[in-house]
Amino acid sequence: MTYWMCDKCSFVIETAKPPDPCPGCHMKCGFNDVTCYTPDCGGIGTLDSRLVAERVMKKEKPGKVMHFSDIVKGQTSEGKEKHIPGIETMRGQGKIGKDLVEIVVGREIPHPNTLEHYIVWIQAFGVKKDGHVVDLGREAFKPGIGKPVYAFEINLSDFKHLFSFAYCTLHGVWEQHLEI
Ligand SMILES: [Fe+2]
Repeated sequence: MTYWMCDKCSFVIETAKPPDPCPGCHMKCGFNDVTCYTPDCGGIGTLDSRLVAERVMKKEKPGKVMHFSDIVKGQTSEGKEKHIPGIETMRGQGKIGKDLVEIVVGREIPHPNTLEHYIVWIQAFGVKKDGHVVDLGREAFKPGIGKPVYAFEINLSDFKHLFSFAYCTLHGVWEQHLEI
């Protein structure tokens, strides 16, 4: 067996192949082999504690650059059924002949809607065929009122990608991507 360590949450597991998703942070992660292969690390086939310490030190090194993508959750995250801002497109269904886009949080399982726990906003971006990134607007919600749905009209034929983001007061930022 091999010992694997998650490069995001440092979870360690003994298994033949790296797990997917990670049992520790429930995300799609990279895994490093932290098995001992030489006698001087405490016994061949055991956990190499020097490698583990090295990895943790490297991860916690001051000045490590964080990116927005490090905090965004998606299809592989726990709670996705209640949080993914699901994008649905309806061609020609807009009021003025355009295409209708509807983004709904909690399409599968409704998200809670209380003062402490609710969806604050949904934001959309599009990438046009020439690569130009367009802000497609944002809808803000108040706790206890209505459902987290944001609908707008565009010409889908102008776009190659749509992105949606939603923010939950307890569970952070979630995203979905749709290729047109
Ligand atoms: Fe939530």
